[in-house]
Amino acid sequence: MNDHTIAAATRVLACNWRSSYTVPAAGLYPHQWSWDSAFIAIGLRHISPRRAQQELDAIFSAQWADGRLPQIVFNPRLDVQYSPGAAFWRSEQIPGAPAVPTTGLIQPPNHAIAALLVHQADPEESERRGFLPRAYRRLRAWHGYLENRRTGVSGLVHVVHPWESGMDNSPYWDAALAAISETFEQAIPRPDLDHADASHRPSNAEYGKYLYLAARYRDHACDDRDETFPFLLEDPAVNTMYARSELALGHIAELIGLDPGPHVDRAHAVTASLESLWSPDLGCYVARDVVADTKQEFRTVSGLVPLLIPDLPRTEELLTTLRSPHFALGDVALIPSHDLTAVTFNDARYWRGPSWFNTAWLIAQALHEHGYTDDASRLSSQMVNLGIEHDFPEYVDPRTGEPRGTQRFSWTAALSLDLYKRLHPRDGVAL
Ligand code: SER
Repeated sequence: MNDHTIAAATRVLACNWRSSYTVPAAGLYPHQWSWDSAFIAIGLRHISPRRAQQELDAIFSAQWADGRLPQIVFNPRLDVQYSPGAAFWRSEQIPGAPAVPTTGLIQPPNHAIAALLVHQADPEESERRGFLPRAYRRLRAWHGYLENRRTGVSGLVHVVHPWESGMDNSPYWDAALAAISETFEQAIPRPDLDHADASHRPSNAEYGKYLYLAARYRDHACDDRDETFPFLLEDPAVNTMYARSELALGHIAELIGLDPGPHVDRAHAVTASLESLWSPDLGCYVARDVVADTKQEFRTVSGLVPLLIPDLPRTEELLTTLRSPHFALGDVALIPSHDLTAVTFNDARYWRGPSWFNTAWLIAQALHEHGYTDDASRLSSQMVNLGIEHDFPEYVDPRTGEPRGTQRFSWTAALSLDLYKRLHPRDGVAL
């Protein structure tokens, strides 16, 4: 990647910008997605700190009365282009929903991490626009929702739908979905298949379960107090981003003259609870099905993401797994989303094997922070090179690097740009 390619990443972000936010990809994902926006803001801060703030402000302005940040904020003019859309969710009929149409689900809480980085990119611009105190209020309410409505006796946050994890068809969800006998009874539109190969996307059978669960959650007014809800799972990456975001929120609190203590305490409590997801047999963290009270014994990239927690007691063990034939750090094009040796591994199908750039970014960041500078730099370069070579693909075949899904994908461009800037610290931004 050189200056020409910085321009290419910038062009993707400019083309996907929609006056106050960025769509993940113009055809496949034509609305605003929550965790995408946070990752995108991390790249945008290098081009326009103001735009990066607007990106986060746009998702904050769709916050529900209970504090949740919705998975998707819909552009109602494009409702037939994506399914399920605003007409499916009917959020305007649900108490506590915002004025704009949204889903009732959530996505991983990476927003405070992004808000802190965006502020640090240009503290003066941030101050001029009152960004940090505004973000803090929104983020505190968001984390409050996670603590009060989504945290179980284990001390961990659970997701109520595979979409909430961001890793839709991870093998973690297979058993829980199989245990649900119902499926969505109406026709299931798949406009996604106009933009990506069917073999790269979740299956129709999975979509039947996805829509059944989404409709059930919607029909209970997206109220989490539903004793018999059939899908509650604790995911390692979701909880890691939550803990890491609490640390970032503590830092933000300090910057605006507030007490960081409660946020730091919460981060430590979530970190301690994460130990219940450790699998000694697999050498990584796994998801837990709260309904069935069973661990889902699969190696996925989600189970490595806890590396991002600074004082994690398992760093060495996770590195061993990352370097083993299961993930083959250094020997693959990019870290796979699922164990290369597993029978459930598929090199093309969404989160069942392909390599994604956001998880590579999280791991590169973690490796750097733990002092594995060479590994971090190599992984960052791999990511940047693959991004530019294939026009910022959504995901790639882990072994060959061939592009999968869609292209000109915003977080691939944003995070490649971020790592490039940090690998080449001309402006004093070091990795
Ligand atoms: N990842 C989902 C999709 O494929 C939505 O969050 O549409």
